[in-house]
Amino acid sequence: MTASHAGALTGRVRAPGDKSISHRALILGALATGVTEVEGLLEGEDVKRTAAAMAAFGAGAERLGEGRWRIEGRGGFTEPADIVDCGNAGTGVRLIMGAAAGFELSATFTGDASLRGRPMNRVLKPLGEMGARWICRAGGRLPLTLQGGGLKHIAYRLPEPSAQVKSAVLLAGLNAAGGVEVMEPEATRDHTERMLRGFGAEVLVEEADGGRRIVLPPGQRLTGTNIRVPGDPSSAAFPLVAALITPGSQVTVEGVLLNPLRIGLLDTLGEMGADLSVANVREEGGELVGDVTARHSELVGVEVPPERAPSMIDEYPILAVAAAFAEGPTAMRGIGEMRVKESDRIALMAAGLAACGVAVEEGPDSLTVMGTVRGNHGVAGGARVTTHGDHRIAMSHLILGLAAGAPVAVDEPGMIATSFPGFLALMRGLGAEISA
Ligand code: S3P
Repeated sequence: MTASHAGALTGRVRAPGDKSISHRALILGALATGVTEVEGLLEGEDVKRTAAAMAAFGAGAERLGEGRWRIEGRGGFTEPADIVDCGNAGTGVRLIMGAAAGFELSATFTGDASLRGRPMNRVLKPLGEMGARWICRAGGRLPLTLQGGGLKHIAYRLPEPSAQVKSAVLLAGLNAAGGVEVMEPEATRDHTERMLRGFGAEVLVEEADGGRRIVLPPGQRLTGTNIRVPGDPSSAAFPLVAALITPGSQVTVEGVLLNPLRIGLLDTLGEMGADLSVANVREEGGELVGDVTARHSELVGVEVPPERAPSMIDEYPILAVAAAFAEGPTAMRGIGEMRVKESDRIALMAAGLAACGVAVEEGPDSLTVMGTVRGNHGVAGGARVTTHGDHRIAMSHLILGLAAGAPVAVDEPGMIATSFPGFLALMRGLGAEISA
């Protein structure tokens, strides 16, 4: 897929459903008793894998129409008859393993080559302390077989800021004698806590030492509910940054989730001088949403505070693209977690930007993008970028190609469908030149 220098991008679009909330809606719906109807579900490949997994664990999962799903929870999981393949989805497999660990069953999980290379020890460690057992490949890699049931209480302090690990422990805690407690030194996205409450569970959250302490008391019962999934800020980031770097552009993305733990990118772009405005802020299903408008802006490089990383961890690739068009360097530090995503995103962004003529400095847990110099504006482009099957690496470089001097091509564009199946149509609708 190749993106070429486009004219101004203009229009109003709707962001696809939030990926994190979509996975959780299906999993909590399957764990609950009764019917959950979901509207606005992201129908990306990752979430479809989770829907299939919920059916494999005994729930009813029926598609009623576009983004509309009916989940019939049976109050617990039963043993799946076959291997559960979570595809590319780290969130899917880690949350489902947590949920499954609470039941007397054995389940074998696998995924695609990317997911089989990612660390599962971070969830296996707390689940093991609670009493779950498993057999896996060296280094805690998939495929692995998990044996659940008989879990006991733990008070677990997250070694890394990971909402996936926090969520896996909380979901396991639903069926642990004595419940569970998680301490997170830095606050991470809190959709699991919010949604558990929506399903009728009691979740206590208190601020502690700059982070949070989350307590799930024992004996929680989940009851089916209705969920409206807000637009994904991690996907909205692509058309918004495209507008910021493409002269003459003005783009509005409607219905974007504005949860304070997810909007680090908007804060950072604002500090870079981006002309962004948020209108029509409202509450939908326990989350804040709004319509975000971006206009072409002269950006300047900034230092991104490391403590902001959890609130924008998936947005550093597209921030790096914005930084390439900014005047002066943008330093992103404390982003080591980027190396264990769908790909090593620090390495791939550094390589892709360098191939497009952007000066970068890569550190073990940092990336600095040098940006442009006034009077010598512009990013060369003209490269074919290797994405290692990572959807966000692909979309980021295509956005770069819209404002670069020469076209930018990405390999494996099919992977974009894991999180943003409508990306190509949406971007073309705004005036982007992208050829498949
Ligand atoms: C997610 C948490 C983050 C994020 C991922 C979605 C979630 O991962 O990168 O895309 O839904 O909980 P980590 O928990 O590994 O930080």
